[in-house]
Amino acid sequence: MIQTIDSASSLSGTVRLPGDKSISHRYAMLAAIAEGTSVIEHFAASRDCHSTLECLQSLGVELQESGATVTIKGRGLQGLKPPDRIMDAGNSGTTIRLLSGILAGHRFVSTITGDESLSNRPMGRVIRPLRQMGAEIESRERDLPPLRIRGGSLKGIRYTLPVASAQVKSCVLFAGLYGDAPTAVEETISTRDHTEIALREFGGAIRGDGNWIEVDPMPRLQGRRLVVPADISGAAFFLVAAALVPNAELSLPGVGLNKSRRELLDYLMRAGLNLDVENETEIAGEPRGDLRVRYSPDLLQRQLPPIRGKLVASLIDEIPVLAVLGSQTAGGLTISDANELRVKESDRISAIVTNLRAMGAEVEEKPDGLIIPRARQLKGADIATRNDHRIAMAFAIAALAARGETRIHDAECADVSFPGFWDALRAAATPSK
Ligand code: S3P
Repeated sequence: MIQTIDSASSLSGTVRLPGDKSISHRYAMLAAIAEGTSVIEHFAASRDCHSTLECLQSLGVELQESGATVTIKGRGLQGLKPPDRIMDAGNSGTTIRLLSGILAGHRFVSTITGDESLSNRPMGRVIRPLRQMGAEIESRERDLPPLRIRGGSLKGIRYTLPVASAQVKSCVLFAGLYGDAPTAVEETISTRDHTEIALREFGGAIRGDGNWIEVDPMPRLQGRRLVVPADISGAAFFLVAAALVPNAELSLPGVGLNKSRRELLDYLMRAGLNLDVENETEIAGEPRGDLRVRYSPDLLQRQLPPIRGKLVASLIDEIPVLAVLGSQTAGGLTISDANELRVKESDRISAIVTNLRAMGAEVEEKPDGLIIPRARQLKGADIATRNDHRIAMAFAIAALAARGETRIHDAECADVSFPGFWDALRAAATPSK
């Protein structure tokens, strides 16, 4: 499907975002291995989180969906059943990597695979620690999916993450639930901590000491009621849109404000975005609040702060749309230390550079990032999304600031994290005459 987007003369209204994808995955997996029933409200409607639900169903988990509420009957820590088919994680790295940690603690053989993109993403980063813990794992050549996992009783380990990755951290912590002793993970660069928060909420024992996070094995996890906040990574597209489009004023209610994710807001405010955060509350350890954002012409006269070092992990999913913003700020934007972007749903450095150039931006590709030296007027173009949801949505936002029409190819991939994105964008934007 091709979505054709015109430049916009204004942007207004309230944007209702889907539930946070990262948090939804974790709640569903923990609910499945807890005892008793969990009710999860505002569960992410995303295709990725449905992949997690389908895998859990293959593992014998009974669940019901009613609108955005998912009710999951827990099977207990070691209660998953051997699947009678190969599980399909679709496009979702979080599904395959986090679920592998749980499967490593089950005494049966299971196989999990994914779509073309996921089948080419590195799994050595989870295979290595899980093997150290005692799981047997086979993969395709170069540690690529499918993964065939034979779990069993695991050893508790102390493990230093070789890459800043919340998915790898979470995989090892989940496997640590099945260890013969506590498991500790060291992260030298902090990543999102939804797993730690959710584990605690379900009754697990997890401690943090500096960069080390330690989990106790064999907890009795208890099912519960939860409400997922709106996805801050989905909010990012509309925050950048508001920065770019004259007369923009948008409200984004109930957005997740976990401190390991809200760096995006601090970054944009540092850059000069006119943004207010109101009505902050917290449910199950996850803070949330309402965002109100307005057109910020001053921001466009500046240079965006460089994205490098620790900031890369904090903004990892928002970089495509921040690069779009950087192409419209007078002093541009430099991104470095971002090699991880090359192994996301697509090679995002290459996808950003190619598509920005197609729209007339000046951009230099680097092995670990890119340099945009100055702003150039964007023009409408054909965008090759590479079936990557965040590339599709980022360039839809670029289209709002471009002269002429932009055609986003394979636009349905936005459903991976944000079903309803195209309708939400059309409802908010007034096209230029
Ligand atoms: C996620 C972690 C990040 C992020 C992904 C979701 C998670 O991946 O890019 O969209 O839910 O843990 P890495 O941990 O591999 O960087």
